[in-house]
Amino acid sequence: MANWQQAEDRHLLSSIRREVFVEEQRVPQEIVLDAHDAKSLHLLACTSDSRFIGCVRVMPTGQIGRMAVLLPCRGAGIGAHLLQAAISAAEDAGLEPIFLHAQRHAEGFYRRFGFAPTGDVFHEADIEHIKMTLKNAPDERIAQ
Ligand SMILES: CC(C)(COP(=O)(O)OP(=O)(O)OC[C@H]1O[C@@H](n2cnc3c(N)ncnc32)[C@H](O)[C@@H]1OP(=O)(O)O)[C@@H](O)C(=O)NCCC(=O)NCCS
Repeated sequence: MANWQQAEDRHLLSSIRREVFVEEQRVPQEIVLDAHDAKSLHLLACTSDSRFIGCVRVMPTGQIGRMAVLLPCRGAGIGAHLLQAAISAAEDAGLEPIFLHAQRHAEGFYRRFGFAPTGDVFHEADIEHIKMTLKNAPDERIAQ
């Protein structure tokens, strides 16, 4: 768990997002950090040698977002751990529905965790997105 109110955590979260969204995906900086951050719950992924390599946030509306794993660290299960932790945090907080705005290339990633498309495709920062919502019952997800 990370705390946006603490400068060190804010710096770590910002630098991971900057590297992934601004430098890699060319998303404008002003979209990457926004006013929702101060009210959101934040999670950071950390290696055993204390390198911070991924992040995600959960907004009070139940929206999961700003999910990012540094490029060299992908494909090793970090994103899966972060998303599971974000879902658990949202469920523990009683947030419902739990949803996100997925970049289209990541739709398959979110489907694996029980999210299904619940909206039309739209563009944000010139990237195609789609709203996806988590199926309600955890039992239903396990049964899939
Ligand atoms: C999407 C992202 C967070 C995934 O992180 P990751 O650490 O590479 O994911 P994991 O290694 O935990 O993958 C978990 C599983 O999902 C699969 N997966 C990963 N990315 C996928 C994708 N884009 N589409 C479909 N499946 C995917 C993996 O193959 C893995 O499957 P397995 O369990 O059978 O091995 C990462 O690619 C990323 O940060 N991308 C850039 C930022 C971004 O686009 N964020 C999403 C914004 S909506």
